[in-house]
Amino acid sequence: MTERKEIQKRWLANRFDLEKTRRKKQRNRGILPRFWKLFNNLITIFGQFLKVIGFYEQGLKNALDIKLNSFELSFPNLPGNFHGYTILHLTDLHLDIVNNLEDEIIRVLRNNHVDLCVMTGDYRRETYGEFRQILKPMKKLMAHISAKDGILLTLGNHDTYLMVKPLVKMGFNVITNETIRIEKKSQFISITGIDDVHYYYSEDAVKALSQKIEGFKITLIHSPELYDVAADNNYDLYLCGHTHAGQICLPGGIPVITHLSNGKKFYKGLWEYKNMKGYTGNGTGTSGIPVRYNSESEITLITLKKSAIS
Ligand SMILES: [Fe+2]
Repeated sequence: MTERKEIQKRWLANRFDLEKTRRKKQRNRGILPRFWKLFNNLITIFGQFLKVIGFYEQGLKNALDIKLNSFELSFPNLPGNFHGYTILHLTDLHLDIVNNLEDEIIRVLRNNHVDLCVMTGDYRRETYGEFRQILKPMKKLMAHISAKDGILLTLGNHDTYLMVKPLVKMGFNVITNETIRIEKKSQFISITGIDDVHYYYSEDAVKALSQKIEGFKITLIHSPELYDVAADNNYDLYLCGHTHAGQICLPGGIPVITHLSNGKKFYKGLWEYKNMKGYTGNGTGTSGIPVRYNSESEITLITLKKSAIS
C-alpha cells in the first residue's frame, strides 16, 4: 500500500468512527457534550425572532453581498519561481443554505485565472444528514474556477467523509492529513491539508504537521485551532476559516460567538504567530441562518511575493 493510501485509510477509520457514533472531539476538551442540538434549536428561534422584528431581510442582503478581497503576502524564503503565485481561497461555502448561492460566487469570481484554488471546508449547512445537495453546486463552481495547479479541498466540521469520493471523482483534490508538493521549474512549495479539528480532532492531524518537510510550507486547516502546532513546525502560511468572522457581530465587527476552542484571537483576517503568517477567511457563506450583521461574506485572492532577506 502506498504511503498516501495508508494515511487516507487511517483518516477514514477515525472519521468513520466519530461520525457513526455521533461524537465530536476537540484537542483541548476531548469528546464534547452533545449540546450542539440545543444550539441549533436556539439558532432557529433566533431566525424567527429576526423575521418578527423585521431585521431578517437586511441580514440576508448583507450575507449575499460577497466581496472579493485581494492582497499580497511577502516571505523571504519563498522560492523565486513562486514570486507572484496566486491562491484563491474559499471557505465556509455552506452552499445549501440559500438557493443558487453558487451563482453569486461565480458572479464575484468573474473568471479570475489563478495558479491554485484552495477551499478550507464547510460545504453544507448542517453538521449531519444528507450531503448530496452540495454536489451539483460544487460541480458548477468547479467549471468557473480556472486554477492552473488545481483545486485543493480540506473538510470542515459540517462535512462528512461521504463527500470525499464524489468530490474526488469530480476532479477536486481532497487532502486529509497529508502533504502535497507543487513544483515550478525545479523549485517547489509544500501544502499540508488537515482534516477538521473542531469536531474531528485526531493525533494524526498533529502528526501530519510534525513531519519533516523542507522548504516553504503552507497548511490548510478548517479552523485556526492548530496555529501553535503549525508555527512550531515552521509553517510559513496558515489558511483557514470556520468563524465566519463572527457572522452576527456587534457594531465594530465584535463577534458574539467565534466557535473556537483555541486561537480565539485569530478569529478573523490576517495574523502572525512566531514566524508564521495566517489568514482566517470571513467565509463565503453563512451557517445556521443566512444572515450577517457587521461582518462581510468574502472570497480571498492572495498573491505570494518573495521579499528581500533582512
Ligand atoms: Fe466550520
